[in-house]
Amino acid sequence: CGIVGYIGNNDSKNVLLHGLEKLEYRGYDSAGIAVLNEEGVHLTKVKGRIAKLKESVDDSVQATMGIGHTRWATHGIPSITNAHPHQSTSGKFTIVHNGVIENYQDLKREYLSDVTFLSETDTEVIVQLIDKFYQEHQDTLTAFRKAMELLKGSYAIGMIDVDDTETLYVSKNKSPLLIGLGDGFNVIASDAMATLKETNQYLEINDKEIVLVTRNHVQIQKLDGTVVEREPYTAQIDASDIEKGTYPHYMLKEIDEQPIVIRNIIKEYQDENNELKLNNDIRNAMKKADRIYIIAAGTSYHAGLVGKELLEKLASIPTEVHVASEFSYNMPLLSEKPLFIFLSQSGETADSRAVLVKIKELGYPALTITNVPGSTLSREADYTLQLYAGPEIAVASTKAYTAQIAVLAILATDTAAVKGKEIEIDLIKELAIVSSAMEVLTDEKEEIERLAAEYLPTTRNAFFIGRSGDYNVSLEGALKLKEISYIQAEGFAGGELKHGTIALIEEGTPVIAVTTHENVNYSIRGNVQEVVARGANVLIVSMKGLEEDTDAFVLPKVHELLTPLVSIVPLQLLAYYAALHRDCDVDKPRNLAKSVTVE
Ligand code: G6P
Repeated sequence: CGIVGYIGNNDSKNVLLHGLEKLEYRGYDSAGIAVLNEEGVHLTKVKGRIAKLKESVDDSVQATMGIGHTRWATHGIPSITNAHPHQSTSGKFTIVHNGVIENYQDLKREYLSDVTFLSETDTEVIVQLIDKFYQEHQDTLTAFRKAMELLKGSYAIGMIDVDDTETLYVSKNKSPLLIGLGDGFNVIASDAMATLKETNQYLEINDKEIVLVTRNHVQIQKLDGTVVEREPYTAQIDASDIEKGTYPHYMLKEIDEQPIVIRNIIKEYQDENNELKLNNDIRNAMKKADRIYIIAAGTSYHAGLVGKELLEKLASIPTEVHVASEFSYNMPLLSEKPLFIFLSQSGETADSRAVLVKIKELGYPALTITNVPGSTLSREADYTLQLYAGPEIAVASTKAYTAQIAVLAILATDTAAVKGKEIEIDLIKELAIVSSAMEVLTDEKEEIERLAAEYLPTTRNAFFIGRSGDYNVSLEGALKLKEISYIQAEGFAGGELKHGTIALIEEGTPVIAVTTHENVNYSIRGNVQEVVARGANVLIVSMKGLEEDTDAFVLPKVHELLTPLVSIVPLQLLAYYAALHRDCDVDKPRNLAKSVTVE
């Protein structure tokens, strides 16, 4: 979910609506805003997108403060009733909330048995609780603080009090929230991107702090009331990076940006002598580690699988890759000197953060690799490596995946050098070759569009197969296709398909086979024959040097360890065109959110 708030001298509606548009990547099941003026609170909520909210907002209402929310449903179906902002029964308090209150049922039972609830949300419990405490103490800050003391779980909260047009009440725990500072106004936002048009000066809030935001002042307090002083920082995002320009979709723009991102990464991680340049603390941590644990979710997990191969083959460090949401609750036996690498485009994924909190309690070192330097995972880990991919807006991740692999390749190669190992790869040169190969591939859009129409026109399902490094890519290729086109797609190890899943192959079932490694080329082509014999419609993506006449697509040759960086590009485009063909909402696929800040 995404939150935005404004208090200043101008009308708040446009700031809120524009901010919510920029936060829509965090969820788009329903949305709402509440603005406050002398007449009271004006609340507008819709089920669906911000575009619909914009149409529903009454333009004639002028109000210089307000809060807004775009929702990714957790407790309660997407509906107007469950949409935020939520109000207490008395109408005194109105709040927006991102996160999950774990003890909301207990709080409801213990304090609010006499209250009639309108929604099914945990959020309504917070606002009713604040109202309850207000009735006891007749002081809003005291009531707000008492409620915050009792909440368990994750939250970022913005609240307005109908009787006070001068203060926005704010607090957070685990969920992200920033205060943006302006001249004669202040804003709050889940992500600086939402309010970049207003300001590039931001204040971080720590967990369990309470912030009182007025037009000209921001006061941060600890839960016990102690005032905290903090310096603002300048957000490093360029506002033009978050526009689509002439592209029909962010996803296509981001696929096309991949060659430039690889070049950026080379530039950022290279010194004046063209040698790899990495922070010494990170080098020492890598040198000390006897085993690496990569923790990630979704596409980042798939990038982690490629990273494992790079770290083991180049730096000779045993590496495990774990799905974040599983790791917290079923921790494997750890080695003596583990190093944790958190791979996360957004740096905000709650599943990954839960692991970070746990391993920090155990005293282990953590390195975050992220696209967002000021993000929670970045701030809370010991070290950070940046992706330098520029903001990724489309929900389906593309350039962050390739950037993660490139940065992991740099980390692995650098570690090999630091450990005095013989380095098998001239990485900077090879990454430059990858960048050029990606450019060739992004110029092949028409051909890939044609292949998408030929192989994936009306199919219900599709299979991606590969062996070794190509298997990792087939997992990501399948994820891209299912995320945005809703075709049920699965990635399989070429040799494993025959042990069960081959039962699903019927006449015409699309199978996309990837082959970029000489040592498995022969075997994967054998697996292709097995599915062809059962009627599959096979599209083969091979690498120059391994191609055969029947292959649908031949990739330019790149270093063997780096082939995932290029073989994924046609698969991303294939998913894109398959989704377009089905009239799907490419940038905002149903049910998903880009940054999932709940566990
Ligand atoms: C969400 C997104 C995925 C993403 C995953 C991990 O589920 O929809 O596209 O891969 O989160 O995100 P992260 O920001 O941690 O890489």
